[in-house]
This record gives sequence, C-alpha cells and structure tokens, in this order.
Amino acid sequence: LKILLVNGPNLNMLGRRETSTYGTQTLNEIVDALTDYAQNQQVELSHIQSNSEAELIEAIHAQYGQCDAIIINPAAFTHTSIALRDALLSVDIPFYEVHITNVHKREPFRRKSYFSDVAEGVICGLGALGYRAALDAALAQLRKQNN
Ligand code: DQA
Repeated sequence: LKILLVNGPNLNMLGRRETSTYGTQTLNEIVDALTDYAQNQQVELSHIQSNSEAELIEAIHAQYGQCDAIIINPAAFTHTSIALRDALLSVDIPFYEVHITNVHKREPFRRKSYFSDVAEGVICGLGALGYRAALDAALAQLRKQNN
C-alpha cells in the first residue's frame, strides 16, 4: 500500500512556530516517526511539505493512479483553498484531513474547512498523534476493501 502525506504552509516551522500552540516536535521528527510506523505496517509512505499552493496541487495531481490514500494537513489553506480541494477530488484518492490543534477551540475563521465535507475522516486537536490515527484509519479501510 502506498500513502502520501501532505503538509501545507508553515508546517516546516513546527518546533519553532508558536510552540505553546503547536508543541516542540519538528516536522522532521513527526515525519520520521510516522515513516517508521508505516514501514512496520508494510506501507510505503511518501511526504511533501510546501508553502506553495501550486506546488501542493501539482504534487497531488502527480499521484493520480499512484497511491491508495492521502493524509493531508492543509494548514492555513484549509480555510481558503478551493483549488486544493478540487485537486484532491480530481485524483479521486480517499483522503484524511488532519490538524494538530483543535481548530474549533481557536479563532472562528479556523472553523471553516474546504476539505471536511469530502474527506474520509477529520482529526483535530490530537497533536502529532493525529497523523498516526489517520494512518491507522486509512490502513483499516484499505485492508477491509482488499479482503
Ligand atoms: C493547522 C490549523 C490551521 O488553522 C493553521 O492555519 C495551521 C495548522 C493545525 O494543524 O492545527 O497552519 O492546520
């Protein structure tokens, strides 16, 4: 099974960025741990982080017919990007939306997501554990389908 992990803008700053909100783990630490976990589950996990909407859209297009599921933290694009939503729909790959923080507990503008109504599942407020939960959920779903 192949799964793509996508992280949107400013998530490269994890560990330095607003640490009281996002914690002190860096993105590299999170991705390394998730990659190990995926390997143990016989999953090939690839990762892209970009601050550019265009680059994220193109990375998703490149996955057409190539992977089984996408785990995405669209970061601030969650609340703004119809284009990124459409990119996910265009490749017809099931995806899971992850947010490190509980977006419902923060500013009201973070409550609106352009992804939640078309995602397989939405996880927020569990910190980095949310990525692992999404991976577990994607695996359970894919294994059910393949049996
Ligand atoms: C975030 C929440 C977004 O509102 C914010 O813009 C982010 C990160 C999260 O993981 O909690 O950059 O997606």
